Formats: sequence, structure tokens, C-alpha cells
Amino acid sequence: TSFEPCDFVLFGTKGDLARRKLLPSLYQLEKADLIHQDTKIIGVARDSVTLDEYIAVVKENIEKFGGEALCDETWQRLASKLDYVQIDMKDIDSYNEFKEHVDESRTMVCYLATPPSIYGDICKGLNAAGIIDKSVRVVLEKPIGHDLETSQIINNQVAEFFDESQIYRIDHYLGKETVLNLVALRFANSIFATNWDHNCIDHVQISVAESVGIEGRWGYFDEAGQMRDMVQNHLLQILTLIAMEPPTTLDADSIRDEKLKVLKALRPIDASNVRENTVRGQYISGFVKGQEVPGYLEEEGANERSETETFVALKVEIDNWRWGGVPFYLRTGKRMPNKVSEVVIYFKRQPHNLFKESFSQLPPNKLTIRLQPDEGVEVTVMNKVPGLTTSGNMDLQKSKLNLSFSEAFKDERIADAYEKLLLEVMIGNQALFVRRDEVEAAWKWVDGIFSAWNASNEPPEPYQAGTWGPVASIALLARDDRAWYESR
Ligand code: BG6
Repeated sequence: TSFEPCDFVLFGTKGDLARRKLLPSLYQLEKADLIHQDTKIIGVARDSVTLDEYIAVVKENIEKFGGEALCDETWQRLASKLDYVQIDMKDIDSYNEFKEHVDESRTMVCYLATPPSIYGDICKGLNAAGIIDKSVRVVLEKPIGHDLETSQIINNQVAEFFDESQIYRIDHYLGKETVLNLVALRFANSIFATNWDHNCIDHVQISVAESVGIEGRWGYFDEAGQMRDMVQNHLLQILTLIAMEPPTTLDADSIRDEKLKVLKALRPIDASNVRENTVRGQYISGFVKGQEVPGYLEEEGANERSETETFVALKVEIDNWRWGGVPFYLRTGKRMPNKVSEVVIYFKRQPHNLFKESFSQLPPNKLTIRLQPDEGVEVTVMNKVPGLTTSGNMDLQKSKLNLSFSEAFKDERIADAYEKLLLEVMIGNQALFVRRDEVEAAWKWVDGIFSAWNASNEPPEPYQAGTWGPVASIALLARDDRAWYESR
């Protein structure tokens, strides 16, 4: 990796992702002095606007979505790096326009913040203009395809022009500080590293709950659903980081080799076991944070007969030596009570209870990793209640060892995931990007669940907006004598 100037080309600079996330993240990187002074940031869209007009729009977006007052000095530095190219991204012949804007002697980063359906056209256009070489990096946004087959079509279109070592597939959860911290927590602490398997861990819960609905994205979301939008990528990526074997180094392929092994070891879910292992739900109207909200089928633009899931709960088994018999329960949904992402590791119970007087059964230790918000790590431990007694017994109490990021790192701002990922692309480190074989292994497993769901012909179960999903999700764990932890 190296910190060198590049031409950073943002395809789809007028789109939602660029406006809400990428431009404000570039601003933050500039503020932290992490964009090389000679780097150029070139927006690409089809609108015919002057550079000054474009710069004004960028400023407006950063002010609107950046969440803080603009620092004039930072903005001037960023603005001086901006450039704009107007092309119709689907028109392969229009890419010659680029030649004057990029410096072919240095690295070009092409961020495709566009629908995947035009990735192929963009690659062809760049190729027609003769500006692709081994130094070009291309960044792809999810979703890559709708299933294994369509993901292969898109990946093949890109692979025609770019080698895998040039392709950076984004899963923005991999840029979240707390998700990265999973690697530090596991491999920098022997207390966890040595207790991280079926001998010590009873089960794992991963919850990614959102309070928002589909935010005016009915068209996109209804085609995707919560499984394709969240599980195939974000939840499975979190799961791989928790479950993978120690990589030999932090190099891109060391880590990705280990993550891939986990994805390949996921026990298939098919028609024979889909009922016991999956729950899918769709929200109906209800109250979220005291506000009445419509049901999924009443959202603007909705097809009233849609059977798309907005909630998924899964019991996942990993068929390997480390995790035999340790289920991973996953749940994610829209219109849940809060936005909260957490991983909870339940350790096994003690083999013998010395404290029967206080507890008929000692509760298990629990490690909670709060991914967002209120980022932190918490361990529950049993503790003697101080005090003198005449009973000869000890009173115990469950206590918490709590590391809160906002307290421990008061002066550190928690960077947005996209800031981290944009920086990694610019320095050329692929470790936090998803390799093609990972995407395909994830699709293969998810496709199995879809086939089983489709064959069963059962609609998703309704759940009221503002709740933790359908009751069947509680039953999923109750069948194993377990329960979802109570989230904040
Ligand atoms: C995106 C999904 O990838 O992740 C959205 O497409 C979802 O539907 C979002 O809302 C959640 O991301 P975060 O960072 O807000 O947890």
C-alpha cells in the first residue's frame, strides 16, 4: 500500500450513495489530511453543468448530509481537487471525454456508485477510451447480482477488463470501527482467543435491527428483500469475522481465505430443514418510537401483494471442528423498535454450581459487542455482593465490565465506514473488500434458502412495526431452550 496521488473518479456522483455518504466521507478525509494534496476527485454524471455549478452541488450535499458545520479551509482544499465529467455512462463512445481529465501516468480509482446493471457498460467505455491498465482500481457497490448466477454475470463483465487484484467490492460493514474491532478483540486478547470454540461457547447471536422502513426505496427493496439486502452481505460478513480461524497475517488474502472457509462450511438450508431454521417476516402498521407508521404493503409505490421479507431470523450451523454444535442465531429487520447492531457470545455454563443458595442455575457469561450505536464491549460476570452474613453462604450478583467507546476514546471521533473504505482503496489495500469467491459462496448458501422458501409457498409472517419481529422468531430459539437477549 502507499499514500500516493490518484485520480479518484466517482461514477454516479449525483446518486443517493454519493450524496449521503461518499462526498461527506471525502470531506472528512480531507479534514484529517488523508487525501494526497495532488489527488483529483472527478465526479461523473450525465447532467450538463459547469464545474462551478457542480462544486456548489457537492458543497450543498456535504452541508446537508455531513452532520456538522463546514470548515471553510477544509472545504477550499477539497473544492480545489474537484473536477467534473459529463457523460452518458451507458454510451460507450462518450468515454473519450475522460482523456483530458485524467493523468494516465498515475493510479486511477473508479468508484462505481451506480446500479450494477451498468458496471459492464462503464468498464467497456473505459476500455474503449484506452484508459484501463493494471494500475486502475475499480470499486463495486453491493448488491452484486440477485443470486449466484446474476452475480457471476456482473463479475464476469468486470473481470473481462480487470484482474481480481484490481477489484474492490464494498461491504460497508467491513469499514465500521466496531466490526474491525472484532478482529482485534479475538486475536489480540488471549482471554478470548483461547476460549473461542465449541468447548467454551454455547451459542452466538447477531442482531442488526433498524427502525427505519424502506425509505422511499420500494422499487429496489421489493426486488431484494432483507435477505439479499442485509444477510447475504453484512450479517454473513460479521459472522465470518467471528467464526474464522486466525489468519496468518492481516494481508488481504490471508483474511479472505479464512472468511471463505467459513462461508463454505455453512450448513445448507433446504426444503428439508427450512422450517426449523428460518423465519421471514413482513411488517404491518404499528408504532415506532411513538410514531404511527404504515405497513410495508401500504408504503408509497407498494405492490399490495408483495411477499418480500422485511425481517429474517436464521439458525445457522457451521460444520467445522471449531464450531460443531454451536448455533449462530441471526436476525435483522426493518421497522424494529431501535437501530441497534449487536453480537452476543454466550459462554457455556459452569460444570458445577457452588452457589445453589443464591442461584439454582448460574447464568452464563455473556460477551456483548455493541457494533452501533453506543459502541462498546461488555462482559457479564458473576460477582460476590460485598457484606458480612451469618448464613455461611455467598450472595452473588450479575455485574458488567463495560468498555464504552464514547468514554474510553473521548477525543476520538468514530469515523464513518465509508471514510475507512475510501482511504483503503486510495492506498490500495484490499483486506476490507470482499473477494469474488466470498460473494459467490454467500450467494450459493442464500440461494438454497430462497429455493426452499419458494417451494414452501408460504408468505412471510406479519409483525407489527415497532416490535422485534414475528413470534416465530422467538420460537426459533425457544425450541433450543434459548432466548434472544434483550436489546436496549
Ligand atoms: C445498506 C442497506 O447496505 O445498509 C440498507 O441497503 C440498510 O437497507 C443499510 O439500511 C444499513 O447500514 P447502517 O450502516 O446504517 O447499519
